Amino acid sequence: MLKGKKIILGITGSIAAYKSASLIRLLVKEGADVRVIITPFGIEFITPLTLSTLSGHPVLSDFFERDNGDWNSHVDMGLWADMLLIAPATANTMAKMARGICDNLLLTTYLSARCPIVIAPAMDMDMFRHPATLKNIEILKSYGNQIIEPATGELASGLEGKGRMEEPEKILEWIKEFFKRKGRFSGKKILITAGPTFEKIDPVRYIGNFSSGKMGIALANKLIEEGAEVKLVAGPIDSSTLHKGVKHIPVVSATEMHEACLKIFPEMDIAIMNAAVSDFRPLEQADNKIKRSTEELELRLVPNPDIAASLGAAKKENQLLLGFALETDEGMTAALAKKKKKNFDMIILNSLQDKGAGFGGDTNMITIVGKDNKSQKFELKSKTEVASDIIDAIFAIFED
Ligand code: C5P
Repeated sequence: MLKGKKIILGITGSIAAYKSASLIRLLVKEGADVRVIITPFGIEFITPLTLSTLSGHPVLSDFFERDNGDWNSHVDMGLWADMLLIAPATANTMAKMARGICDNLLLTTYLSARCPIVIAPAMDMDMFRHPATLKNIEILKSYGNQIIEPATGELASGLEGKGRMEEPEKILEWIKEFFKRKGRFSGKKILITAGPTFEKIDPVRYIGNFSSGKMGIALANKLIEEGAEVKLVAGPIDSSTLHKGVKHIPVVSATEMHEACLKIFPEMDIAIMNAAVSDFRPLEQADNKIKRSTEELELRLVPNPDIAASLGAAKKENQLLLGFALETDEGMTAALAKKKKKNFDMIILNSLQDKGAGFGGDTNMITIVGKDNKSQKFELKSKTEVASDIIDAIFAIFED
């Protein structure tokens, strides 16, 4: 499964470094070519002799080979690899990676690598949940680095909590899955709409909604990892976790979103309508801030364009159009009606009745209704996992 895959395994100074030995064995057994770079602290936890014996290659740690005056080129290493896996990754190394500090060979290799970077953190629970660590993880994710979340359990400190490096078998599964998916969407052009739209009432007020854009960002990031070219037309959102490979087209109102989508759609293979578009906008926008008064104020609203329906009407044979239906009740009948009306090939239903689903949070619970109107219900998952389920369902259409 991993035959010929070139993997650099970075090992840092954590007690979990003992698991690196079995991780190397598993990777080598799957056919991967593994080279180890260990930090000076890492050597305190596991011997280079063990690692070189298992990987079949010398272990790198120093910039210089003191015996023969040679130096180890981090640039060559970074270009050689198909993946840089840092397992275990300490809070210290992640902090340095987030800030671009490069005072050892592993960190210089990280900064110059062009391959996907995967990080499996390992540390004490209090270190893991410290805002500094959490912030650094967010920064690393925003660089497009991927995190294999640590497990919860007994820690070296004797405490119980989240921080244990994931088991080597699970890391291997993750890597196999990654290489299986990589490139599935290469050459595909994908438009995603996300976030809310803001409809101005006056220069300082608007009608909006609570959409965070997190589901759209999760879809965009996953599709980039799988080789797609992604354009994200998004209303006002926090885009700090958006993969740098995604082309972000920021808009504010539904009218602007409509215009941007109509322009882009003809070149697209797939469009995913995830935005929570405001259905109405004020008929008039006041030029100046509306003053407070004791009188009643009447706002006249006019309907916004239905972006999804416009794209549905313009859709060509070779294009796929997907939409979401956020319902406040069961909603299957409404979802099916929307699918037909907007000419969607697939609709993803989420109900605000399900705890943890919908706007704002990091989880979602969906039902996917496919081309044939057959539905598949999924359990409550993180928005990243939900994005994977949706992308698998899209891929299945291509495979048919
Ligand atoms: O009709 P409703 O708003 O519930 O439909 C939801 C679906 O339609 C979502 O995919 C949403 O992104 C899309 N939509 C749109 N333009 C609108 C309203 C909804 O693209 N004006």
